[in-house]
Amino acid sequence: MATTTKQKTQPTVQETRLFIDGQFVDPVEGGSFETYNPATGEVLAKVAAASPADVDRAVKAARQALERGPWARMDAAERGRLLFKLADLVEKHAEELAQLETLNCGKTIRDSRSDMQGVVNTLRYYAGWADKIEGRTVPVRGEFLSYTLRQPVGVVGQIIPWNFPLLMLAWKWGPALACGNTVVMKPAEQTPLTALRMAQLANEAGFPKGVINILNGLGETTGHAIVVHPDVDKIAFTGHVDTAKIIQRNAAETLKRMTFELGGKSPNVIFADCDLEQAVNGAFHAIYFHGGQCCTAGSRLFVEKKIHQEFVERLAEKSKERRIGDPMDEKTEQGPQVSQEQMDKILSYCDRGQKEGATLMTGGVRHGKKGFFVEPTVFDNVRDDMAIAKDEIFGPVVSVLPFQSYDEMIGRANNTMYGLAAAIWTKDLDKAHRYARDVKAGTVWVNCYHVVDCTTPFGGFKMSGQGRENGEAALEHYTEIKTVTIKLG
Ligand code: NAI
Ligand code: MG
Repeated sequence: MATTTKQKTQPTVQETRLFIDGQFVDPVEGGSFETYNPATGEVLAKVAAASPADVDRAVKAARQALERGPWARMDAAERGRLLFKLADLVEKHAEELAQLETLNCGKTIRDSRSDMQGVVNTLRYYAGWADKIEGRTVPVRGEFLSYTLRQPVGVVGQIIPWNFPLLMLAWKWGPALACGNTVVMKPAEQTPLTALRMAQLANEAGFPKGVINILNGLGETTGHAIVVHPDVDKIAFTGHVDTAKIIQRNAAETLKRMTFELGGKSPNVIFADCDLEQAVNGAFHAIYFHGGQCCTAGSRLFVEKKIHQEFVERLAEKSKERRIGDPMDEKTEQGPQVSQEQMDKILSYCDRGQKEGATLMTGGVRHGKKGFFVEPTVFDNVRDDMAIAKDEIFGPVVSVLPFQSYDEMIGRANNTMYGLAAAIWTKDLDKAHRYARDVKAGTVWVNCYHVVDCTTPFGGFKMSGQGRENGEAALEHYTEIKTVTIKLG
């Protein structure tokens, strides 16, 4: 395992306060929490935490902007123009944002740069939608004219995770703002910094005050206060499935609209008739991208028995060569996990896998003594009933599950509460299309993995989510349809 250490000059933390009604403000009750650099474990900054009173201030500002401010009467095309402007500013500051993301989240600088491109693409994509969200005229019975209007859902609470902080922000702001909603966002407590920088850029772009509000804080306090606030119309959440259940229960009293993007245990299926080199590289990327901290990670690796032995050996060899270290270093391939908590969770699954009798081919341990690094880990001969085959580990740990036939494999692949993503590696077109039809997942990849674009719907079957983000599909979840009927003659 190679270790990289080179250190670059670090970006500065410009803002740590709450962003409410177009201004940075101190919290009413003065709460704060510490945020870390996961590559070193050192404290980066003390960040203001929002109490329920701050949530109430932000929701009031968002309501005011929604109903009475310039945003309420703004032309749709002008909303689009502001989103284009914000995209341009992200592009202009992309390197600084990427470095801040890497500093706080631990993803490699190359991955952070690629995320920033994703942010720009997403904002531009939805900027283009802003003046194309149309209602219909409907051929009703009788002497009436009926048409539909598509109006914003209202004040939307957006709660996001730490694995793709700014990209998740863009996936949520893009459709919400294109449709004319106002936003109260809570970033993850592990990665509060880049969202605050985005608030500065949103002001520079010219978004009216109150349209965007950012409240950092813990899930159980700040997040919860947004979820139960009676004047929040919708919650859009990305994170753990158990958190989604808590949110759904807590939001029941106010019957909020909900969209959820939750985890997965995605089946990545390798048939003997694949291009072996391509498939090994694909399986590697599928599990190790961003240290496995990815909702679509290819964590259940089904390999056809005929090639199983060779495939696993090649994957394990390749895993040993991955360059782990300082995420700011251009040559680093894998940075730290986001937190001590995540690292401990991953390592406990590594122990469990061995206790349950899976074959540890490589990894399974912490890398180094400083920061939260975990070695790329391959478990072979995993059984479907083992914890490492069932639970979302969210780390660089892959479970290899050998299989004999298509029918056996598809039954096992679908035998999970999750249904976010799936992939197949084969040169047989019939097999590929059959799998795409049969597998229960919101995204299916054929001979590729982790190809996600803002233009295509993204979300989960079963307990991997509710609704879809990205593409035209997201607009549906950020608009209410109103039917207007006029008596003629
Ligand atoms: P989490 O689901 O607790 O956190 C996600 C967001 O929800 C954060 O902003 C958090 O502050 C907020 N939150 C937490 N509890 C809340 C509550 N009661 N009400 C309102 N908001 C609340 O995820 P966490 O603890 O960071 O990670 C645990 C596991 O979740 C990971 O190991 C991974 O398996 C999964 N996860 C999945 C993600 C995905 O992309 N689908 C992203 C992050 C984590
Ligand atoms: Mg949590």
